[in-house]
Amino acid sequence: MTDQPQTAHSELPGKPTSASRTTLSHIMTGSETNLYGTVHGGVIMKLADDAAGAVAGRHSGGPAVTASMDEMVFLEPVRVGDLVHVKAQVNWTGRTSMEIGVRVLAERWNESTPATHVGSAYLVFAAIDESGKPRPVPPVIPETEQDRRRYQEAQIRRTHRLARRRAIRDLRASRVAR
Ligand SMILES: CC(C)(COP(=O)(O)OP(=O)(O)OC[C@H]1O[C@@H](n2cnc3c(N)ncnc32)[C@H](O)[C@@H]1OP(=O)(O)O)[C@@H](O)C(=O)NCCC(=O)NCCS
Repeated sequence: MTDQPQTAHSELPGKPTSASRTTLSHIMTGSETNLYGTVHGGVIMKLADDAAGAVAGRHSGGPAVTASMDEMVFLEPVRVGDLVHVKAQVNWTGRTSMEIGVRVLAERWNESTPATHVGSAYLVFAAIDESGKPRPVPPVIPETEQDRRRYQEAQIRRTHRLARRRAIRDLRASRVAR
């Protein structure tokens, strides 16, 4: 693993981050609250998955499915009447998978006050072909310093995800063999 964007292994031409960056906006209503009267975390997770799915589809040029969602962090409660903006972009690409970073902001729907950062998430999407098998994705080309930082941080998360998956598989295999 290096700190630089890897493009050499892909047969597809690269695509810049800005080509698929997307914002999904939604006003929260009373049907989306939990028992405490604030917006249910699952509603925010659904919006994050929707926005990330749009980005993954745009970047990969076809169907892409959620392989994992990790590090969904809720920083502030979201309330009824909040206009929520879910900003998503490709942080990193592998051969067939993409890490999509999602940043959730909220502002009162009828006030011109600055939006508050209320949550963040990282999702991995796999691009699939018509038979549901993983297919290659274009390498993402980070454009700004922030895009490059996100790319490098995504590589760290990727390494940890794979290591965790491998460690759990190895443990299960060793328990079966006992
Ligand atoms: C995601 C899916 C396509 C992976 O298929 P697979 O046969 O395991 O294929 P692979 O192991 O080759 O994985 C494909 C890519 O996804 C990545 N991936 C798979 N599972 C992952 C996980 N849990 N976390 C992170 N990345 C993962 C792999 O690292 C690989 O990336 P790379 O090619 O960039 O290195 C398959 O498990 C699937 O269809 N899952 C259901 C997805 C779905 O329906 N989501 C909606 C929920 S209702």
